[in-house]
Amino acid sequence: MNDNGDVERIVIDPFSPTDLDAIMEMEVASFPVPWTRRSYEDVISLDNVSTWVARIGDEIVGYMLTQYVADEMELHTFAVKSSMRRRGVGARLIQNMISDAGHLGLRNIYLLVRPNNIAARTLYEKTGFQLVGIRKHYYQDNGEDALVMRLELDG
Ligand SMILES: CC(C)(COP(=O)(O)OP(=O)(O)OC[C@H]1O[C@@H](n2cnc3c(N)ncnc32)[C@H](O)[C@@H]1OP(=O)(O)O)[C@@H](O)C(=O)NCCC(=O)NCCS
Repeated sequence: MNDNGDVERIVIDPFSPTDLDAIMEMEVASFPVPWTRRSYEDVISLDNVSTWVARIGDEIVGYMLTQYVADEMELHTFAVKSSMRRRGVGARLIQNMISDAGHLGLRNIYLLVRPNNIAARTLYEKTGFQLVGIRKHYYQDNGEDALVMRLELDG
């Protein structure tokens, strides 16, 4: 819930290399199988990748990395600093992604999510993502399935 006006102060910008320390801290704290710093360094220079950080003042409070091929975008990684959750940062990053996909003229956004990730699933469903498939035994750490969700974009 946005109860302190923070959401109005969120600024979203592309990653810069100096943001990687803060991103890696959130990545490691947020995921059982985090991306490595090297993976980030390898992909952020690709032409078909969009990278975003959300800032409130000088503090990086969230990030997202997407990739697009043909007319489809895939959300690869997305997290909000644990102390800053439930204030609208994630929703702002999702809206920014949809707007980026619109500017790129894409038709669909796809993502994978763990069935028990209620926070993310609720946010995605609220945004209009629909369940379109299941990847069996997808996650390396515990072999659980991944839900495949898609948002169809207008126009
Ligand atoms: C998923 C995540 C990015 C959401 O970020 P956030 O900034 O807390 O999300 P928001 O504050 O914008 O929430 C928007 C809406 O999503 C839903 N939501 C968010 N967190 C929720 C939770 N813990 N339980 C239920 N619904 C939740 C709510 O509908 C919320 O709106 P409301 O606060 O007005 O009720 C954050 O929980 C996170 O970083 N999780 C760990 C990493 C992760 O799972 N990433 C996604 C991988 S697929």
